[in-house]
Amino acid sequence: MSQHRPLIIAPSILASDFSKLGEEVRAVDQAGADWIHMDVMDGHFVPNISYGPDVIKAMRPHTSKIFDTHLMIAPCDPYLEAFAKAGSDHIIVHVEAGPHLHRSLQAIRALGKKAGVSLNPATPVSSIENVVDLLDLVLVMSVNPGFGGQAFIPVAVEKVRQVRALTAGRPIDVEVDGGVTPQTVGAIAAAGANAFVAGSAVFKGGTLEAYKTNIAAIRHAAAAARGELA
Ligand code: DX5
Ligand code: ZN
Repeated sequence: MSQHRPLIIAPSILASDFSKLGEEVRAVDQAGADWIHMDVMDGHFVPNISYGPDVIKAMRPHTSKIFDTHLMIAPCDPYLEAFAKAGSDHIIVHVEAGPHLHRSLQAIRALGKKAGVSLNPATPVSSIENVVDLLDLVLVMSVNPGFGGQAFIPVAVEKVRQVRALTAGRPIDVEVDGGVTPQTVGAIAAAGANAFVAGSAVFKGGTLEAYKTNIAAIRHAAAAARGELA
């Protein structure tokens, strides 16, 4: 069950002020982030372009927290080494990034990084049944990838339940990405997710104090749903 995996809040730097990335990374670190989520978009796999390995490398000296790198790029294999060298701790690829998911996950592990797979809202959980042995993390998308600030798609709740059942007894984090707020996090935490990406809900307000309040509100709602509040 989710209670066996630690509760993780992973602010997505996509929603930060790109003119001061180092400062923003330090601010969410101080504000209580557990991981920092890096959204990489190629304008091909998703209809938006964000940033690449050199930008991640530039952020790396600003925190010692885990870099949770979410690759929304296809093909992904030619770039895995660059994202590993840039300082990613986790590398997450999409089922459809192809052409061979099993090979991509093997390559991430061979680079010494934790391997994750992401499921789009229309991607069934059955698509990862044959690669469970290679997984450290499953990222369930609760929006269509490409943009921050979208509304949470409730199909993610049942999908989280299915992923948690598929990965039961294994040291695999179940993470949810998209539209996560103090209002939506409870249902996915109760369904078994333990890691929560949040962009807009963390960075709204634009100050260290706001980030602290925002992260604490998400953490509190998730902990309540996990039955962890005294
Ligand atoms: C969407 C990205 C998300 C996004 C989340 O493609 O994968 O990580 O930044 O942003 P919010 O929390 O604003 O939905
Ligand atoms: Zn993401």
